[in-house]
Amino acid sequence: MKAICLRTRGGPEALAYEEVPQPCPGDSEVLVRVHAAGVIHTELSWVPTWTTRTGEPRPLPVIPGHEFSGEIAALGAGVRDVGVGDRVYGLNDWYRDGASAEYCVARVADVAHKPAGVDHVHAAAIPISALTAWQGLVERAGLAAGQRVLIHGAAGGVGIFAVQLARWRGARVAGTASAANLDFVRSLGADEVIDYQAERFEDIIRDVDVVFDTVGGETLERSWGVLKPGGKLVTVAATGERTTDERIRAAFFIVAPSRTQLAEIARLIDGGALRPIVGAVFPLVEARQAYQHKPIRGKVVLRVVDGGGAT
Ligand SMILES: NC(=O)c1ccc[n+]([C@@H]2O[C@H](COP(=O)([O-])OP(=O)(O)OC[C@H]3O[C@@H](n4cnc5c(N)ncnc54)[C@H](OP(=O)(O)O)[C@@H]3O)[C@@H](O)[C@H]2O)c1
Repeated sequence: MKAICLRTRGGPEALAYEEVPQPCPGDSEVLVRVHAAGVIHTELSWVPTWTTRTGEPRPLPVIPGHEFSGEIAALGAGVRDVGVGDRVYGLNDWYRDGASAEYCVARVADVAHKPAGVDHVHAAAIPISALTAWQGLVERAGLAAGQRVLIHGAAGGVGIFAVQLARWRGARVAGTASAANLDFVRSLGADEVIDYQAERFEDIIRDVDVVFDTVGGETLERSWGVLKPGGKLVTVAATGERTTDERIRAAFFIVAPSRTQLAEIARLIDGGALRPIVGAVFPLVEARQAYQHKPIRGKVVLRVVDGGGAT
């Protein structure tokens, strides 16, 4: 099969389009014919991209891209609740080969039926960002109707879903973004938008129930002060495992795969409460360009099957 391969550490220039053996699904796994895969720009330098769970170097080449939409092509032993031909979206194990390829393997527990109302390209833009937003706002912060939430990076991959999910929960939503994205963030359902380059959010907003931070650094530090007593802060952008700050360690989390949540997110997409935003689409062979490209908003997606835009 054709795949995007990494053999040496580096940036997008290290990505090569190669012929490699097709993977085989193991117990409780499925083989997916990938139609489209999401691009995570930072992934090339992640620890799991280069090491196994036990810290040894991963065998080369490594195939990046850990979210996808496609069709089940084969079932591993013990898989009964999905069938060949089912259209699914989901995540690959961070420590194993990913979805920038014609085929990938995923645990059946990490995939769900894709939303029927969007094509594979749009479905591939959903799993990591939407699950991150769900786990931050719903699972960790328990965001409830009537509460006030401040979302940092509201026009980013995660922020786009966070704004929409917060709105769906019935919260009052404020979001920070750059000037070019303020109208866009309003169009997602934010009641209030703050241009982080022109204003200090803490001069404008206070007494919020929840801060959802996707920016980290100084933005995160300054956010504690806008929480009301008992308010909750969650962050996905801190160096959570490395910091010695106990508050940040408690606020940080890493997204986990969840079939149940992916299924719920698919229902919300099909019901119109959530919409994925795709900023740019590249064919698989142009993965280097895709990893170099930063759209003003929305996700970069690799189209693997010609016509991956069709449902
Ligand atoms: N822990 C986890 O499990 C997890 C999961 C997913 C993502 N992440 C991390 O979360 C972060 C965001 O991911 P993403 O996919 O949403 O990234 P992204 O699509 O690149 O979006 C980042 C957004 O942040 C905005 N931004 C930059 N500086 C800002 C500031 N000072 N205040 C407010 N907004 C600011 C940018 O807006 P402009 O472009 O308009 O400046 C951009 O829209 C990344 O660090 C990513 O690695 C972590």
